[in-house]
Amino acid sequence: MVSTGSTTEGFGSTAGGLGPPGRGSPGRGPTVLVTGIGELLTGDPQRPTIRGAALVVERGRVAWVGEAGHAPPADSAYDVGGRAVLPGFVDSHSHLVFAGDRAEEFSARMAGQPYAAGGIRTTVAATRAATDEQLTAQVARLVAEMRRQGTTTVEIKSGYGLTVADEARSLAVAQQFTDDTTFLGAHVVPEGSTPEEYVDLVTGPMLEAARPFARWIDAFCEKGAFDVDQARTVLEAGMAVGLAGRLHASQLGPGPGVRLACELGLSAVDHCTFLTDDDVDALAQSGTVATLLPGVEFSTRQPWPDARRLLDAGVAVALATDCNPGSSYTSSMPLCVAWAVREMGMTPTEAVLAATGGGARALARDDVGRLVVGARADLAVLDAPGHAHLAYRPGVPLVAETWVAGRPA
Ligand code: NIG
Ligand code: FE
Repeated sequence: MVSTGSTTEGFGSTAGGLGPPGRGSPGRGPTVLVTGIGELLTGDPQRPTIRGAALVVERGRVAWVGEAGHAPPADSAYDVGGRAVLPGFVDSHSHLVFAGDRAEEFSARMAGQPYAAGGIRTTVAATRAATDEQLTAQVARLVAEMRRQGTTTVEIKSGYGLTVADEARSLAVAQQFTDDTTFLGAHVVPEGSTPEEYVDLVTGPMLEAARPFARWIDAFCEKGAFDVDQARTVLEAGMAVGLAGRLHASQLGPGPGVRLACELGLSAVDHCTFLTDDDVDALAQSGTVATLLPGVEFSTRQPWPDARRLLDAGVAVALATDCNPGSSYTSSMPLCVAWAVREMGMTPTEAVLAATGGGARALARDDVGRLVVGARADLAVLDAPGHAHLAYRPGVPLVAETWVAGRPA
């Protein structure tokens, strides 16, 4: 085995950036031993955390995980100096393709105005007026922001174009950054259309134009957006041409969207802020993940979603940012973890698992969100001895390094 250098220094004293010469740097040989891991959160139910851990990366994947003392030989080694390592965050819900911001709307809300989905139209106007280059630069900026905070997988929706051409180009922009692109033509009904005309457009020419650039189809099932029949029509049209469904529901009040998502067997239903007992039962009996988006509740002064109630009922829960300029302009998964712990009844471990493996499940991905043999070697290295510090030290930039497929990103 290649020398890994000292592991006796406290975390924070080694492994800045790519690692100083002589301590080993990632990616030099076919196998890299990442060692000196104070606490490794694997996401593997058989062995959720390992202290004094190491892992081996080979061709971008995890090839071995265990106690550092039992690590196999590797071509090079990289010592993280006692830091905690967890799977990179899987942010399964974002709306990054937009122009402009709505800081004034936020300030008005903080002065007592309620959130209204109609604000989406302000962003639609700005997005339509932006060039492709401006939209691409905006997504690049936000994805870079996410990376710095430990996110290694992101889903990106359209939904601020709402014309055939603007939805298709939004998805083409998003596809430059992720395979998990979502067609959300059914975000709101744009000015100048009736709901009936617009649903026909979304399920006809817009779907046809969006399809080559999208993996998922989504709709906003809520008063003021699309009712349950319209949402069903949109989802079924997308699913009929090979897209997989996910849904926004129960953000602003209780409604039938969560049960629709469970009935259609969708991977995830997102928001879930206002749930009835029937909704919770339906979620518990289905494989549908409830994705909670605490940035929305922070930014709209709504009640926090009750994660404890869902977990106690056996529902699979994910956490995501919903990064968008209206209801949740944060790119920070660590902050979502902290809110979920403080305000939503989750333990630190439950929250981090929801932000990693939970997000992966919401995206029907088994290659990310866990650090087990065969998974993509996506890591968040924390300037902290354990994952609980993400909630214990809220707002502190604890992510020292983010690795995607075995390389610092
Ligand atoms: O997920 N709920 C619908 N869409 C976004 C909000 C979009 C906006 O306000 O611009 C959401 O919260
Ligand atoms: Fe959303």
